[in-house]
Amino acid sequence: EDHNNIYLLKFKGFYFHCAAFDTGLSENLDDFEIRDDDVFVVTYPKSGTIWAQQILSLIYFEEHRKRTENLEAAHRVPFLEYSSRDIDFGKRPSPRLFTTHIPYYLVPRGLKDKKAKIIYIYRNPKDVMCSYFHYINTYPVFKAADTIEAFMKQFLEGKVLGSVWFDHVRGWYEHRNYFNIQFMMYEEMKKDLRSSVLKLCKFLGEDLSEEAVNAVVRQASFENMKDDPLANFENTLYRGFGPKLQEGHFLRKGTIGDWKNHMTVQQNERFDKIFQKQMKDFPLQFIWDV
Ligand code: A3P
Repeated sequence: EDHNNIYLLKFKGFYFHCAAFDTGLSENLDDFEIRDDDVFVVTYPKSGTIWAQQILSLIYFEEHRKRTENLEAAHRVPFLEYSSRDIDFGKRPSPRLFTTHIPYYLVPRGLKDKKAKIIYIYRNPKDVMCSYFHYINTYPVFKAADTIEAFMKQFLEGKVLGSVWFDHVRGWYEHRNYFNIQFMMYEEMKKDLRSSVLKLCKFLGEDLSEEAVNAVVRQASFENMKDDPLANFENTLYRGFGPKLQEGHFLRKGTIGDWKNHMTVQQNERFDKIFQKQMKDFPLQFIWDV
């Protein structure tokens, strides 16, 4: 490999963070035991993962909604492939909540019986790319590409954690009939968080009072999460990666269409061409600006 992203590790055609291999879980994902009431958040990185973690945590834990107990959302909805060193998943009470970036073909076999639920969040890939660019430039571990131009190449070739965006989204969508899966669009969540929360509650079979729904919506807003150390991921990342390389936050902007502030007209045209080719006949729509 010609890139120098030492944190990346390719396994069965997919780029993981090398931490996934500390415990051997990645090798055994296929056999990972699934319970009927497990819930999985699945995303390509930078598509709203932490947001979904916060929303799920708020939906399922009254102590979180009422703020009577303090535990990071990321710990309540831990990463399947990165947390098995800290968490004994087998001992977790049901319903267990998980997060993962894995592609459809690497999931535990048990997920295909359609009982456990999957929430797949997707976001327009230009914003994903720009969000990703800022993120990897914040931490020394990533040895980031220092221009959008260089990163765009890396992103389109899939030499990032999560591999090729097109493959991830297409793969999950095209195999949706094997799973009990709800697709959610980042931009729709952004435009109407309340409706998105209600849609999720319906899918999950969680009947929350109006007051509880209000609490979820309030505490899952960008502004609220950014100021909340239990939701903004800063502590978790600090533990994982150490000090930042430059000033920057995991909850950076949280907007639709920020790519317009980063991509040149020419880069945008190139991106569009590739998008049209890769996503030809793809039925899900994307929202590119407000
Ligand atoms: P930006 O970098 O564009 O701001 P992930 O968790 O998958 O890595 O995604 C991170 C992106 O989701 C960041 O995008 C972050 O700001 C955004 N995000 C996180 N919480 C959000 C919220 N409550 N509302 C809107 N965007 C949010």
